[in-house]
Amino acid sequence: MKALILSGGKGTRLRPLTHSGAKQLVPVANKPVLWYGIEEMVAAGITDIGIIINPETGAEVQAKTGDGGYFGAKITYILQHQPAGLAHAVQVARPFLADSPFVMYLGDNLIQLGDLNYFLQQFIQQQPEALILLRQVANPSAFGVARVDDTGQVFQLIEKPKIPPSNLALVGVYFFSHVIFDAIANIQPSARGELEITDAIQHLIDQQKQVLAYELQGWWLDTGKKDDLLEANRLILDTYLSTTIDGEIDTQSQIIGRVQIGARSKVTNCTIRGPVIIGSDCYLENCFIGPYSSIANHVTLIDSDLEHSMVLEGAKIARIHQRIIDSVIGQRAQLTLAPRRPKALRFLIGDDCQIELT
Ligand code: G1P
Repeated sequence: MKALILSGGKGTRLRPLTHSGAKQLVPVANKPVLWYGIEEMVAAGITDIGIIINPETGAEVQAKTGDGGYFGAKITYILQHQPAGLAHAVQVARPFLADSPFVMYLGDNLIQLGDLNYFLQQFIQQQPEALILLRQVANPSAFGVARVDDTGQVFQLIEKPKIPPSNLALVGVYFFSHVIFDAIANIQPSARGELEITDAIQHLIDQQKQVLAYELQGWWLDTGKKDDLLEANRLILDTYLSTTIDGEIDTQSQIIGRVQIGARSKVTNCTIRGPVIIGSDCYLENCFIGPYSSIANHVTLIDSDLEHSMVLEGAKIARIHQRIIDSVIGQRAQLTLAPRRPKALRFLIGDDCQIELT
């Protein structure tokens, strides 16, 4: 059994964060989204992993993620020259996959599989040509949508239908046998010009091949937009965070609930109410950090209050006298109150930023 994790794509919905890097490397609870998928595979015992990269962000993904040793896996990077679709990515990965059955995982999805192993066992025991996961969603038009009969058998899959026939979306995890290559060879590009994996699975169904579908009960988030990212951050902190304090905290500071503070971080006269994760080499002075906040490495926070927010690596926030909530502050961004007159707002704002003032 092998795994194929997709880490291409443009990340347009996550701009400006993705101007400077891959959407799969945007951190959730201080860990790149992509790494959750890798860890999920390794936990299910799948350690031979191929990662699809693109020419724009591939080198960065590779440099950050490495050869897999960190995860107890062996990672092979596979370059997809153009973003020509999920089925195209599978085709490009054929030399890596050979005839092995495999699980395909979309690297920007965060899925509470809890038990990927359960689905893997079903796939191994029942030996279908494909096993897909479905989940009820409020906006099925944004996904591949399935029609399922009373016995749970899928009979139709449609990619991003304008009028969705059900609210069951295709989740970004699929199990395939090598028969998927024949199906992909028989499909045409969709209206958006991509070879859709949804169409390839439909082709399997049309050929009377066995396609099993299971409904996912746990949460599933596509981290493609700011609010989804914050929601993913909240869920991961809520579900997995445990207290570890490696940094230095003075006696004036109060730490409440589950809080993680990384090595060499210094916390002076702050109140931190968990769940909160703070990376290493941070400096926090006179701050309130409220629940569901993730502060990456090398961040400086002075005289500021924030909650339900993410501050990425190297950012600095100082003397902002209004509480910052529901925010994502990008790498090395600076948000400070200048002591000089006239009292005014002075901005240097990058492309696609969103700022809300009251
Ligand atoms: C892709 C698939 C779609 C699936 C979705 C899950 O969509 O084409 O069927 O429901 O992933 O995230 P895309 O991310 O390419 O829009």
